[in-house]
This record gives sequence, structure tokens and C-alpha cells, in this order.
Amino acid sequence: MSTVLEAMEQAALSSLAAATNSEELEAWHQDYLGRKGKVTVFMRSIGSLPAEERPQAGQAGNQLRLLLEERHTARQTEIREVELARALVEETIDVTLPGRRPWTGGLHPITLTLRRMYAIFAEMGFQVYRSREVESDLYNFELLNMPPEHPARDMWDTFYVSDSVVLRTHTSPGQMRAMRDYCPEPVRVIVPGKCYRYEQVTARSEFMFHQVEGLAIGTDITLADLKGVMATFARRMFGPERQMRFRASYFPFTEPSVEVDMDCIICGGEGCRVCKHTGWVEIAGAGMVHPTVLRNGGYDPEQFSGFAFGMGPERIAMILNDVDDIRYFYGNDLRFLRQFGNL
Ligand code: PHE
Repeated sequence: MSTVLEAMEQAALSSLAAATNSEELEAWHQDYLGRKGKVTVFMRSIGSLPAEERPQAGQAGNQLRLLLEERHTARQTEIREVELARALVEETIDVTLPGRRPWTGGLHPITLTLRRMYAIFAEMGFQVYRSREVESDLYNFELLNMPPEHPARDMWDTFYVSDSVVLRTHTSPGQMRAMRDYCPEPVRVIVPGKCYRYEQVTARSEFMFHQVEGLAIGTDITLADLKGVMATFARRMFGPERQMRFRASYFPFTEPSVEVDMDCIICGGEGCRVCKHTGWVEIAGAGMVHPTVLRNGGYDPEQFSGFAFGMGPERIAMILNDVDDIRYFYGNDLRFLRQFGNL
């Protein structure tokens, strides 16, 4: 009997020494000490031995079981240490790999354009004045020298909220609000914001777009001041070599009225797609504030004069970035918007 157990012990210890990883060790444990393991089977067979041999066989079997459990535990500790050491070497994280930068969003190209415009006008002493987007017919038209049924109202295709309330078609009602706020003091403001027109959406026109209105009221303001401000703006925004052109035009709220052109920044006046082969691009509608409008704002036209202008930041952003379709700005296509990404 003891020779059987001795042989079993020999075999068990040598195969234990041969186990080099957790899986092999587990298999070894099953093989000797598991439910169908060799030692277990031996212990179960004791019952079939002659009665006088049983105590000794039981004792010897138990000793072997305890010995093997003990050796197993010791070997397990060894193997775990080796495996841990290997894992620490082989499974290190490469901390030098650059991380993936999360998309944090960016400013809209029109926001960026507006901010550049604010900075340029701030240098010339213009403050930002905010005016409402939902406007009364009175401010959008009537006080700007366009009584009901005035034919010039056709210049703006209007979204009516009710009979007397509109979505502003231009930022010019902001002129009237600023005048009534500041009167009798001089005024020097820009009024930026959204405007709405009931128009067919095309490459050149959106139903929502921005304007930057400008207004200066004082005691000696002339058309020369308007020309100077327009030229200074164009040269700050588009380059010091810009040439200006002022064409006679018509707006009910200015007299005289002009349209402000600058030479095309793409071709320098030679003629190209951007300027539609004219060599000039329009950047503003403007003029001297009409006496009726001054009076409506609370100023005496005998004493005060002023100029006003209206510019389209979308148009400026299109010229600046060579964008040929205004619809890109509000199409929410990130492939377009990310090109301006400043973050
Ligand atoms: N409000 C005019 C427009 O929308 C532009 C303008 C503003 C013209 C101020 C003259 C003075 O076309």
C-alpha cells in the first residue's frame, strides 16, 4: 500500500514542479485532489480494504493529501509572482501615445466676422447697441419715413407677425431706438443682429441673415465722415490697399443715399467670379440721415446731422473666405463650419 502512495507522491511532486502557469497548476489540482483526482479516488477506495488495513491507509492517504495541498499552495504563490512580474513587463501602457482630442466646438464664421467688425468700429468710437428682432411696423417702416402704403416698402419682403408687428427686415429700426434713447446727446453706435425677409432662398439670399447698422449723429457730421468711416472699415477688414467707390442710390430714410463699393479683393479690380466681372463689390447701403428721421428720433435737423449705413456680415464673410453660397452658413454642415474652427 505505501508503495502505491509513495509512487503517487513522487509522480505528483514531479508533475507539480513541471507546472509553470496557473492553468497547468489548476489541471494538476484536478488531477490529484479534485473530485475525481487520484488521491480522492484512493481515499474512497479505503472502504473496500480489509478492516485492519483501513486506519493506516486512511492516515497515509490524509498525510499525502495535506502534503500535496501544502505544496500546491506554495507552488501557486511562486507561479503568481512569476506571472505578475511578466504582466508588469509585457502589459505596460504606452503613455507616450498621443490622446485623441475631443471636439470642443467652435465659433460660427458669422460670429467671428461680427467680432472683427465690432473691434474695427470700436476703434472708431462706435458702441454696440442691441435692438429687438421682433419689431413694430412703426419702427421698421413708418418712423423711417415709410408711411403705410409707401411704395418703398416693397424693397423689403416682410414676415408679418400681426398687422402691426413684423420680424425686422433690416437693422435700421435700431437707428430710431438708439436716437430716442440718446437724444439730445450725440450718437455713435453699431446695431448688429438678425434680420428676416420673406424671400426665396438662393445662393445669394437667405430668409434669415445678419446686418450691422451704423449710426452717427452730431452737430457737424458730413458725407465726408461717412466716406472716411467706410474706407477705414474696408481697409481694416480687407487690406490697406482697398479703393472705394460711392454710387448714388435711394433709401427712404437717408438723403442723399449711396451704395458703397470697394475694389474686388480677389482680382484687385481686374474682374473675376466674385465681383461678377465688374471689379467692384458692394459692402454697404448708406447715406445721410433724412431730416424726417432725425426729427422722429427727437433731433432738430437744423442743428443735428448724421450718417447711417447697413452692412451684411454674411456677404463680408463670403468675400473674405471665398464662399460662393450663403446657404452654407446655416446649413449646419460641420464639414463647412469646422473650416473656421478656432478652438
Ligand atoms: N436698411 C438698408 C437695407 O436693409 C440699408 C441701409 C442702412 C441704408 C442705413 C442706408 C442707411 O437695405
